[in-house]
Amino acid sequence: MSNGFDGNTSLQPLPVSSGPSVVLRAEGLTKVYPAVAGAALGEVELFRGLDLTVHAGEMVAIVGDSGAGKSSLLHLLAALDKPTAGEVWCGESRLSTFTPKQAAEFRNREVGYVWQFHYLLPEFTALENIAMPLLARGMGRAAALEKAAFWLNEVGLSARGQHRSGELSGGEQQRISLARALVTEPEILLADEPTGDLDTRTGVAVFELIQGLHQAHGLTSILVTHNLDFAARCGRMLRLRQGRLEEQKNL
Ligand SMILES: Nc1ncnc2c1ncn2[C@@H]1O[C@H](COP(=O)(O)OP(=O)(O)OP(=O)(O)O)[C@@H](O)[C@H]1O
Ligand SMILES: [Mg+2]
Repeated sequence: MSNGFDGNTSLQPLPVSSGPSVVLRAEGLTKVYPAVAGAALGEVELFRGLDLTVHAGEMVAIVGDSGAGKSSLLHLLAALDKPTAGEVWCGESRLSTFTPKQAAEFRNREVGYVWQFHYLLPEFTALENIAMPLLARGMGRAAALEKAAFWLNEVGLSARGQHRSGELSGGEQQRISLARALVTEPEILLADEPTGDLDTRTGVAVFELIQGLHQAHGLTSILVTHNLDFAARCGRMLRLRQGRLEEQKNL
C-alpha cells in the first residue's frame, strides 16, 4: 500500500492521522421515566441503547417528531439529567459520575446551551445577561463585562448592550442568549430549537449566525431543529426515532 511518498523530494509522506478527536460520545443510553402514581401516564421509555459519536468541529443536526426525546437527549449530553443506563463521555469524563457541583462546572466550562426560549433575566441589561455565566464562575465584573462586550459584537448587537432584555425583539433576545452561551468559550454548543419561536426570516438569520460562530470559533455543535432546511445545511443530520438515532443521508 502506498504511503503517499513516491520518491519526489517535494512530497512528504502522509502523516498517520487518527482523524478529528471525539468530543462527545453517548454509549448505550437508556432513559426511562417511571410511571407517576395516580397519573394517567405510565412508564415512558425514551431511549434504549442509543449511541452517538460527535467529533471535534462537527455541526450535527438532530431532527425528529415532537415527543421523540430530542430535548431529553440534549439534557443528558449537557449533564442536566442522568440516564437510566449507559454513559455519556466528554473526552475522558463520564458524565454519570458527576456530583451536582461537577455537573454545574461542566456546564459552565465545557458547554454552551441555547434554549428555544431565551430565559434572559429581564431586570438586567443585554450586556449583564451575557456576562452572567462568567460572574457565576467568580470572574470580576469589569473583566466579565469586557468579555461580554466582545460577544455582544460577535452576535451583531453592540448597539444594544444597555437595553434590558424586555426591550429587545425575539431575534435579538435569541442572539443575546447565544452570546451568553458562548461567553465562557466552551468547546461544545448545544442548541435546542433556537429558531423555534422566531419568524422565518429571523430564524434564518439566527441559524446563519450560529453556523458562522460555529465555524469561526471551531465549535463542536449539536442543533436540534424541526427545520429540515437548516438540518440539511449542517454537516450531518440524525433523526431520533423510536429511541435511536438514524443517519439521514438524503432528504
Ligand atoms: N420528567 C419527565 N417525566 C416523564 N416524562 C417525561 C419527562 N420529561 C419528558 N418526558 C416525556 O418524554 C418525551 C420526550 O420529551 P422531549 O421534550 O424530550 O421531546 P422532544 O423531542 O424535545 O419534543 P419537542 O419537539 O416537542 O420539543 C415526551 O413524551 C415527554 O412527555
Ligand atoms: Mg424539545
